[in-house]
Amino acid sequence: MGKDRAVQKTIKILGIETSCDETSVALLTSKNGNVKIEKHYIATQIPIHARYGGVVPEVAARTHVAELVSLIDKTLGLTLNVKRQTSNVEFDAIAVTQGPGLATALRVGIEAAKTLAWIYEKPLIPVNHLEGHLASAWLESSNRKKWGFPILFLLVSGGHTELVLMNDFGKYKILSRTRDDAAGEAFDKTGKLMGLEYPGGPKLSKLAEDGNPEAYNFPRPMLHDPSLDFSFSGLKTAVRVLLHEQFKIQNSKFKISNKKLNDLCASIQAAIVEVLVKKTVKATLKSKPKAFAVVGGVSANKMLQDELKKALKKSCPEVTFLKPAKGLHTDNGAMIAAAGLWNIISNKKLPDWRKVDANPELDL
Ligand code: KG4
Ligand code: ZN
Repeated sequence: MGKDRAVQKTIKILGIETSCDETSVALLTSKNGNVKIEKHYIATQIPIHARYGGVVPEVAARTHVAELVSLIDKTLGLTLNVKRQTSNVEFDAIAVTQGPGLATALRVGIEAAKTLAWIYEKPLIPVNHLEGHLASAWLESSNRKKWGFPILFLLVSGGHTELVLMNDFGKYKILSRTRDDAAGEAFDKTGKLMGLEYPGGPKLSKLAEDGNPEAYNFPRPMLHDPSLDFSFSGLKTAVRVLLHEQFKIQNSKFKISNKKLNDLCASIQAAIVEVLVKKTVKATLKSKPKAFAVVGGVSANKMLQDELKKALKKSCPEVTFLKPAKGLHTDNGAMIAAAGLWNIISNKKLPDWRKVDANPELDL
């Protein structure tokens, strides 16, 4: 159980996240089994990438460079007037995202973390970003009380859609993954087709609130496939075909009335959510976990949360439903610090910080 095994002595971890389009730094304290986010800063690059319609890796890396030092300064209580070697905030280890993510973006965080490890002579914990998302749910103290192994996760982000069974800290079994696009990509790409600004997910789900989810019958890919795998690229194609067939093109844009846009968004969201929910219930019945958590950027989606909760209550009432606290669904440094703590709890061997490098393809 999480609460029994949490580190008993006081330990402070600095968490650094730069894998994609959020620069984030956090300071996490674990004391007598309690975990507290002491400081947390997130500088989002979304408005910058929105201009290009998606994340531009080179721009992401350069923006991390511009943001990261000031976030570290704020977190460690450093000011430009104080020598960088002195800080009024103590920490015991530095956790940094090693991957998966954009290579050049990851390297910004890793090089900064290595510099801190060198200056402060502290251990460096290379963290798997996906493990960070799993740990985001553990950061909520009420969730930790209900935590039990095995715990099943639906990890839904911009790059990943996976059902993961966690048998202990550091012990993961991937039950299924997407064969093509991730759920977040399905939201973002269909949103883009309809002219919504990047990232489409939050905008599409807002517009869906006033739409009819049954207005358009979009495909539910792999819904009846015996495997637990996902596939979302067919949905994107179906939306593209429908837009071409039913809506006039003007200046290479589709002309859609507000009402129809609401209906399209509601119908797309309903298709994505139904597949995620049905596969989750199937995986829950099969793996019989003690608890279930939905994590990753798409877990911020209200309809997904509500439908998962409802379906689990009906089919597996003994399984507790958990989700991250508000603000911790999308990428953040606190979840990286928490995953760093999990590495300590599971006694994972820490590498020599000089040898740590980005691993853009890292898997769980
Ligand atoms: O976890 P995350 O911040 O980054 C990755 O690790 O990929 O997830 C970002 C994804 C984007 O695709 C975004 O559109 C989606 O999460 N997202 C949402 C919502 N909020 C964020 N998708 C649907 N509904 C939302 N409310
Ligand atoms: Zn993420």
